[in-house]
Amino acid sequence: MTDYKKLGLVNTRELFKKAVGGGYAIPAYNFNNMEQLQAIISGCAESGSPVILQVSSGARKYANQTMLRYMAQGAVAMAREDLKSNIPIVLHLDHGDTYELCVSCIESGFSSVMIDGSSHSYDDNVALTKKVVEYAHKYDVTVEGELGVLGGIEDDVKAEKSNYTKPAEVEDFVKKTGVDSLAISIGTSHGAFKFKLKPGENPPPLRFDILEEVEKRIPGFPIVLHGSSSVPPEYVALCNKYGGKLDNAVGVPEEQLRKAAKSSVCKINIDTDGRLVMTAKIREVFAEKPSEFDPRKYLGPAREALKNLIIHKNREVLGSADKA
Ligand code: G3H
Ligand code: 13P
Ligand code: ZN
Repeated sequence: MTDYKKLGLVNTRELFKKAVGGGYAIPAYNFNNMEQLQAIISGCAESGSPVILQVSSGARKYANQTMLRYMAQGAVAMAREDLKSNIPIVLHLDHGDTYELCVSCIESGFSSVMIDGSSHSYDDNVALTKKVVEYAHKYDVTVEGELGVLGGIEDDVKAEKSNYTKPAEVEDFVKKTGVDSLAISIGTSHGAFKFKLKPGENPPPLRFDILEEVEKRIPGFPIVLHGSSSVPPEYVALCNKYGGKLDNAVGVPEEQLRKAAKSSVCKINIDTDGRLVMTAKIREVFAEKPSEFDPRKYLGPAREALKNLIIHKNREVLGSADKA
């Protein structure tokens, strides 16, 4: 058993309490490789933001679970030793789908896990989530649960269409499971194609009415928004300019995320934007400098662009800058 506290990591409890009270949200950025992790850590250190480093089961398979643990440890050391930053850092399992996966992550030093039982019946979701909470809390690891189903692809869990969270269920779910935070479905979805729009049409607003109903039933309880990439049009255009095919890619407008961050939404998940920005910059280098074949020459600019995007999000969208 690796104790996450010995790795210099924290769980989400204190961070969420401050974020809910302070009207901002903690960013949860996914990573799979070194450049993404460096960009996240340096972007959050430079903007003085607490950060949740988020790992999906796919990321764990891709990067190797042992390598990942040491990468997270390396990220903490880089923040403290090289960047002279004391930002709180959480290592979180994104969309854990089994009890065994959550246990394995906790044993390897994760300070927070999500158990996503949203594809199960309500009663089975309660039972699975409760079981994970009972194990995790023995080690002071915090747990995120989910009620309602997002559209798009949730790791291996495929959902054709979104089923909004039913506010009537949240109080019972939180009470029965003992979860520390709850992901809800209010119109976001995973990936780069969140809304089907006609030309000139704007994305529909998120279902803030559902969020308000949830808040009435569990006041001050930490709420999580998945599928919160904004899919910046300038990066979609850059990608497409250099041979990409991301026509009609559209995300959640930044103003809506800013509004959500001021409520009891205290964790906002972003993966797609990081992928998009890096891919756009890599495409640009490949097209503009076809003789380059040193990975540092294309991964370097991609890393820099991601870092800048993270600073922008923390400062202008989530409001987490200078809250570390
Ligand atoms: O919500 C899912 C995340 O974007 C992780 O995606 O399973 O492809 O790593 P992934
Ligand atoms: P995006 O696909 O909108 O970045 O959402 C990521 C996410 O919710 C990870 O859990
Ligand atoms: Zn998600």
